[in-house]
Amino acid sequence: MDTHPEGDWHRPPSQLTLGSEDVHVWRIPLDPSDTVVSELASILDVDERARAARFHAVIHRTRFVVGRALLRRVLGQYLGLRPEEVAFVYGEHGKPALRGEATIGGLRFNLAHSKDLALLAVVCGREVGVDLEALRALEDAERIVARFFSTREQADFFRVAPELRQLTFFRGWVRKEAYIKAIGKGLALPLGDFDVTLAPGDPPRLLRVQDQPDEPNRWALAELSPGVGFVGAIAVEGTGWRLRGFDVTHGPQANTENRE
Ligand SMILES: CC(C)(COP(=O)(O)OP(=O)(O)OC[C@H]1O[C@@H](n2cnc3c(N)ncnc32)[C@H](O)[C@@H]1OP(=O)(O)O)[C@@H](O)C(=O)NCCC(=O)NCCS
Repeated sequence: MDTHPEGDWHRPPSQLTLGSEDVHVWRIPLDPSDTVVSELASILDVDERARAARFHAVIHRTRFVVGRALLRRVLGQYLGLRPEEVAFVYGEHGKPALRGEATIGGLRFNLAHSKDLALLAVVCGREVGVDLEALRALEDAERIVARFFSTREQADFFRVAPELRQLTFFRGWVRKEAYIKAIGKGLALPLGDFDVTLAPGDPPRLLRVQDQPDEPNRWALAELSPGVGFVGAIAVEGTGWRLRGFDVTHGPQANTENRE
């Protein structure tokens, strides 16, 4: 299972169940109508509201609020809790997790956002990391690869034809981010300390982690297709899992103004 093609996003069932082999990925639009935004804002707790208030740009504040509120709402659906009752704890490098994981059946999740879209991965009894990026012209992709990617990745990248390098960069980047988010270290793990596949046509895989020879066997990567203009990837602990994509819907009105 290496790809998650466009068209694989479904309306969620009314009764959500998550077995140990299920990996659910939710696609969350972050620019709903103002009415929906105000409803969602009331879901956040005091700390989240304080964090929202620190965003200078309204569009970034709004997207944070919508992402957080929908995170609470979706997780609440699995847990049989109201969104306000969902409680988080944070790892050493800031990875959010559910408080009292053992008592709530081992549910784990990871969230990523880019521009007006978020992806939320939900699993049971295993770790997960997800990343997405809006494709955009990036003048210094080659400089970033040369400076931060591993020696092997640099060799793979610079063998790619120049016109394919932007897409190759973003595909590689989301694979790398999905892994560092799955292990919870984020950018505290130097990006050059591990290799992922990134040559066009190479299925997503973790190939090497410095001083940890067993890591590549512990993780499986898959590509996600979040929509036109985006690339995504997921890193999931273990094998034998089954990926399903669901769409979060906000209702009929969507705010088409102020998009970045
Ligand atoms: C985790 C990290 C890679 C996220 O990168 P990003 O592309 O900016 O953001 P994404 O949209 O992919 O993900 C953000 C979400 O990931 C989750 N997250 C935060 N820290 C995380 C971590 N350490 N591991 C996994 N997930 C994390 C949160 O849900 C966050 O959502 P929020 O901002 O709405 O709370 C980055 O912020 C990071 O490295 N943080 C760790 C702190 C750190 O070590 N910083 C060093 C800076 S050089």
